[in-house]
Amino acid sequence: MSSSDTVEAAVEPTVDGSVRIEHVTHRYGPVTAVGPVDLTVPAGEFLVLVGASGCGKSTLLRLIAGFEQATQGSVRVSGKAPRPGEAAGVVFQSPRLFPWRTVQGNIDLALRYAGVERAQWPVRRDELLARVGLEGTEKRRVWEISGGQQQRVAIARALAAENPLFLLDEPFAALDALTRERLQEDVRQVTGRTTVFVTHSAEEAVFLGSRIVVLTKAPGTVALDLPIDLPRGEVDADELRESREFADLRAQVSHAVKTAAAA
Ligand SMILES: Nc1ncnc2c1ncn2[C@@H]1O[C@H](COP(=O)(O)OP(=O)(O)OP(=O)(O)O)[C@@H](O)[C@H]1O
Ligand SMILES: [Mg+2]
Repeated sequence: MSSSDTVEAAVEPTVDGSVRIEHVTHRYGPVTAVGPVDLTVPAGEFLVLVGASGCGKSTLLRLIAGFEQATQGSVRVSGKAPRPGEAAGVVFQSPRLFPWRTVQGNIDLALRYAGVERAQWPVRRDELLARVGLEGTEKRRVWEISGGQQQRVAIARALAAENPLFLLDEPFAALDALTRERLQEDVRQVTGRTTVFVTHSAEEAVFLGSRIVVLTKAPGTVALDLPIDLPRGEVDADELRESREFADLRAQVSHAVKTAAAA
């Protein structure tokens, strides 16, 4: 083998956060939770997954995160089999913070887990808290802050590892409409990475996604794959939400979800 061959063989596939799901079906015992699904998420895309309760959205996210191994088919993140904690930053359906710890304690744990040197923690922590609008809260205990603030800590924690892939499972479902809208605006700004976001809300899907995939009822397969091309950088969030184009897309997604759930 020549030296150039050796170099070639040692090169890792690009760590770009792209996702490739091929012929994937997942079962829990006798229950088929999802599939068969084929889905490719190119680097940098913001994909929103929508579908009825129980159709397998969380299962799909867990497969992408590497928490589960697909019963059939193949899942690849940046070209490799995903490993938990390594493949993606994950925000769960509920925040899953350590309530007795401070905000700082929760973030530091994520930085430690991500292998960041201790000397860099204060700077990185400040950066992360600023990104989610939580400056000055580091000494507060998790049980002392609001539900919306807890979700922000969960998002900051998931961003700590700097994985190129970001997975969010209905992160705002339990929040009031105003907080939810504000966090949606923040999430669009903070990610800038390949993102897979699960929601039940057609409104949220259209606001956030550069592409929306609607799943059929259980076991979920792809019912609709819709690119979303809205002038996001050019108009403010409220103007976008009130536009005719937005309303049309929301109606289209809402209709697809209902049809898919009834089929
Ligand atoms: N750990 C598990 N063990 C056994 N069955 C499971 C497990 N997790 C999920 N399931 C089943 O797999 C199917 C898909 O569940 P999943 O949580 O992926 O759905 P979902 O689309 O995320 O639903 P929701 O919108 O309610 O969160 C359901 O029938 C569920 O009961
Ligand atoms: Mg779920």
